[in-house]
Amino acid sequence: MIGSIPKDFIAELIARTDIVEIIDARVTLKKKGTNYSACCPFHNEKTPSFSVSHSKQFYHCFGCGAHGNAIGFLMAYDRLEFPEAVTALANHLGIPVPREAAQQKVHASHYELLAKIASYYQSQLQHSQTALVYLMNRGLSEKILKDFGVGFAPPGWDNLVKRLGNTQAAQANLIDTGMLIKNEQHKIYDRFRERIMIPIRDSQGRIIGFGGRTLGDDTPKYLNSPETPLFHKGRELYGFYEARQANRTLTYACIVEGYMDVIALHQCGITQAVATLGTAASTAHFQRLFRHTEKIVVCFDGDRAGKDAAWRALETSLSTIRDGLQVNFMFLPEGEDPDSFIRKQGQEAFQQCIENAISLPDFFFQTLSQQVNLDTVEGKAKLNKLGYPLIQKIRPGIFQTLMMNKLSELLGVAPEKIRSLHVGTVQRRPAVQARSLLKQMPNKTKLLSPIQLAITLLLQYPKLVEDPAVVLPDSIRMFKQPGAVTLVQLFDLVKSRQNLTTGAILENWRGSKVANRLAELAAWELLIPEKGLVAEFCDTLEKISQLEREDKIQTLLKTARQQELTAEEKKQLMTLLKERH
Ligand code: UTP
Ligand code: MN
Repeated sequence: MIGSIPKDFIAELIARTDIVEIIDARVTLKKKGTNYSACCPFHNEKTPSFSVSHSKQFYHCFGCGAHGNAIGFLMAYDRLEFPEAVTALANHLGIPVPREAAQQKVHASHYELLAKIASYYQSQLQHSQTALVYLMNRGLSEKILKDFGVGFAPPGWDNLVKRLGNTQAAQANLIDTGMLIKNEQHKIYDRFRERIMIPIRDSQGRIIGFGGRTLGDDTPKYLNSPETPLFHKGRELYGFYEARQANRTLTYACIVEGYMDVIALHQCGITQAVATLGTAASTAHFQRLFRHTEKIVVCFDGDRAGKDAAWRALETSLSTIRDGLQVNFMFLPEGEDPDSFIRKQGQEAFQQCIENAISLPDFFFQTLSQQVNLDTVEGKAKLNKLGYPLIQKIRPGIFQTLMMNKLSELLGVAPEKIRSLHVGTVQRRPAVQARSLLKQMPNKTKLLSPIQLAITLLLQYPKLVEDPAVVLPDSIRMFKQPGAVTLVQLFDLVKSRQNLTTGAILENWRGSKVANRLAELAAWELLIPEKGLVAEFCDTLEKISQLEREDKIQTLLKTARQQELTAEEKKQLMTLLKERH
């Protein structure tokens, strides 16, 4: 979906938007030097460390490390999904959002195909006595089956092949959507056979995949669609669309394990349940849900395994919690899952369990306290060792402060004292680290490697490439180190488009592994006078080339000590040594 909005449009959108105006409409900004500042809306603070740059079109908080461009701000502040944030900015400017035609068409045809297959499975369900009996035995009503689009894939290896795969192109589409499998002998057959078919919808209600349950005991019990361009297990939540359909606003969301749990809960009146798709809840899942609700209740089995899973979910959720958001943990009686529990005990009993769910702080300190003996000094030290790093994962704010206070209370040691004992042992948030380094070092540019410095200069002063003196040496293009690859990509990007702001540049790395590192460099305070920028950049490129050359020379010399160099290598070494002088 992300790819379906053209990159150029997003660049233009950011170019035409003023981030100061967007943020100021939500958080009152004060002009401070060339930037604007406010108390950070993403963590609790009394003195402003949130800064918005008009020229960079970028915001950054020196306290909690939050950062981004206008799109990122709307995603974080208004809790929008990426396409929603893009649409909001476009609406603000009064321009329509175009869709990438070609890719859009392929995707559209895939959605259509899956919808067609879902209705075929639905009609097949009506023809299968065994499947209907199975579902009835599970207590599911006709209405709920219809609401969730449940169907049946009849036995046989070629039902879809025969019906929908008449041409090569049609077969390719069926393979791309995961509905057909092509084996090593190039034989093509239906992935789902003789299974109850549960369509998985995205947040807009489009079918993106299926979960298929056997009628009997064979394995796997559930067969899911593979990862496809439309279907990404790690971020989808089963039942999210249906929950949003049934509720105008989500007062909470309850995360359960299975498809059937969601459906059974829904039928019994618990319509705010969602399930992860065969994986544990990820940070992406929590973030996604937190854009639509303030309270997440995660449901687990009451046994040891359930408790362990809950603890893992707690650890995963910590970094996603902001003030005003809560995660609660609910445990079912042993041997029950949500489906069996609600069918036996009814909606009210389940609702009661949701309400009785243990809060994150209680579960946190209960679990940790059980692992140590708080009557002993060693036990307290261990609690501190286990608890402190986890509390540091929470964004700074009231919630984090209260967690610290609770830890301090249990230890009988003041929070500041605990903090000071941990300095240097716990990895601090990068932004905080950057700020403290800034205080110690008068000239921060010293701390960046040449490649990092070059990247930082380009990010902050993209206009540099317009200077005729600025040329990227070919040797850097050959350099395969990750930082150099990013530098080359960045250089080519700013060279190819004029007037890109820092915020617009960063958009090109959204969701990539280096995105955070780049944002950090974008916020880095360079203490270089405007006039010296071109020279500094050229020097830095030269230094990178030198380092690279030195690296190659050393490698060749090392090889030479072990074996005779080839003629080619000798020539290369000579050239390099000559260049050195
Ligand atoms: P369970 O084995 O607890 O099944 O798996 P369940 O949800 O109670 O299913 P029913 O009630 O017997 O029909 C929990 C979830 O784990 C995933 C599915 O999402 C399932 O709902 N799972 C399980 C798989 O993806 N594949 C499997 O083979 C088993
Ligand atoms: Mn079950």
